[in-house]
Amino acid sequence: AYTTALIVAAGSGVRAGGALPKQYATIAGKPLIAHAYAAFADHPAIDRVVVVIAPGAEPLAQAALGAVTLVTGGASRRESVAKGLAAVTGARVLVHDAARPFVPAAVIDRVVAALDAADGVIPAIAVADTLVRDGTVVPRDGLSRVQTPQGFRTEALRAAHAAWPADDEATDDAQMVQRLGGSVALVQGDAMLDKVTHPEDFAAAEARVQWESR
Ligand code: CTP
Ligand code: MG
Repeated sequence: AYTTALIVAAGSGVRAGGALPKQYATIAGKPLIAHAYAAFADHPAIDRVVVVIAPGAEPLAQAALGAVTLVTGGASRRESVAKGLAAVTGARVLVHDAARPFVPAAVIDRVVAALDAADGVIPAIAVADTLVRDGTVVPRDGLSRVQTPQGFRTEALRAAHAAWPADDEATDDAQMVQRLGGSVALVQGDAMLDKVTHPEDFAAAEARVQWESR
């Protein structure tokens, strides 16, 4: 099926700090967003890549990526995905955070394959540490961290966004699809996909660069 990768990069990277939003900071000599873009553009299962950017960020995005398809995002990640979806063509879409620079081809393969039998697919990895919620220890058994790229039947994700209340800030597309009764499958994620969120994450990402091409 025709598959579009939708990379959301319209955030301002407040927690990461820095002179530029984190997606335009340099990792291993190239803008952070250019790493993920290349992973999708080079993957045989991906037919088209659409990038969602902040209003006014065209010069930054063009400097980082060259002439690619750009869409203006919104004030929240959810709004940015919704605006990007309007430009998505094809039966399937993979939504990816620009803040996750290293995307193993094998994860894209797993997400795409699992879409044959589900409305949505999320890559996840088991939680390594025991968690605490509001002072109470929560056993980690059965808990996983969800990453991107998340795959969807385009119509299922469009329906979920259309039905979602405007004042409810969902942070996860799969949660939205699931809430509407859609089926969501899990596939194995990869530590390479960890998000750059805080300043110290840049160094961790630099350290992962040597495995980027595997
Ligand atoms: N994102 C987006 N539009 C928004 C907010 C976030 O496209 N209005 C994107 C970010 O660019 C990022 C991804 O969603 O690639 C995950 O968000 P996050 O890690 O929270 O990035 P930021 O929102 O930029 O960072 P912060 O929350 O620290 O400001
Ligand atoms: Mg954010």
